[in-house]
Amino acid sequence: MPPTPDPTSHADRAASFSTGADVYARVRPGYPDDAVDWLLPRDSARVLDLAAGTGLLTRSLVRRELEVVAVDASAPMLDRLRAALPSVDARLGTAEEIPLPDASVDAVVVAQAWHWFDTARAAAEIARVLRPGGRACVLWNDRDERVEWVARLGEIMHRGDPLAPDGSHSVHAPALGPAFDASDRSTFPWHQRLATRDLRNLVASRSYALTLPDAERAELLQRVDDLTTTHPDLSGTEQVVLPYVTTAYRARRR
Ligand SMILES: C[S@@+](CC[C@H](N)C(=O)[O-])C[C@H]1O[C@@H](n2cnc3c(N)ncnc32)[C@H](O)[C@@H]1O
Repeated sequence: MPPTPDPTSHADRAASFSTGADVYARVRPGYPDDAVDWLLPRDSARVLDLAAGTGLLTRSLVRRELEVVAVDASAPMLDRLRAALPSVDARLGTAEEIPLPDASVDAVVVAQAWHWFDTARAAAEIARVLRPGGRACVLWNDRDERVEWVARLGEIMHRGDPLAPDGSHSVHAPALGPAFDASDRSTFPWHQRLATRDLRNLVASRSYALTLPDAERAELLQRVDDLTTTHPDLSGTEQVVLPYVTTAYRARRR
């Protein structure tokens, strides 16, 4: 990343997680077990967590006693993953050039990261490393904005963000191309318990905040603090229940 990241640049935004790995590992949500159960083929033995970050999904794969390879483009994110999950084979690499041999894994999971990839190249690479009959699994967590304060938080997060999606990334099935059957989709509501003061860190862990100039980041985080101190559902609370919906897509490699 250049010394002054550009919040309008997709590449700078994709690379920005390196500067926020500690806070990311602490406040970003994991993924519900029922979503992971639905995604993975029952006979999976070896699974690639692609763009694994600090390992928020990887840890559920490890709990299932799978042989797990984690790949991410960010060395600081992978350092957190290695510290938390030393049994995982963690490799620096990209979705566009996956550092694995052909037909070497039963499933590839991509959590909260498909939108950062060159998706045509990533889909071809995922097809290459999957065994025939293996599975591509793509998922996102979306905050459930049917809750009013969560919608207010979302407005604050996205205001002024030139790369904010219209709606959510998870609205569109990932374009995996001709090597895959059509994907199935399912959704899984769940919630994360979070210290109220960490709502500001949740916002700070996002690529938009990570790439903003210092003064603009401070203004953004001040707006979050204003929400947490004045909103009747938040003010005076130590903890919040932040509702999420995980949207998951799975597709079979032909
Ligand atoms: C929002 S984080 C998601 C991390 C993790 N999967 C999770 O659910 O917490 C996005 C991750 O994608 C990684 N990333 C971005 N572009 C990538 C690429 N082209 N190839 C591999 N990793 C990439 C970033 O380094 C970051 O760790």
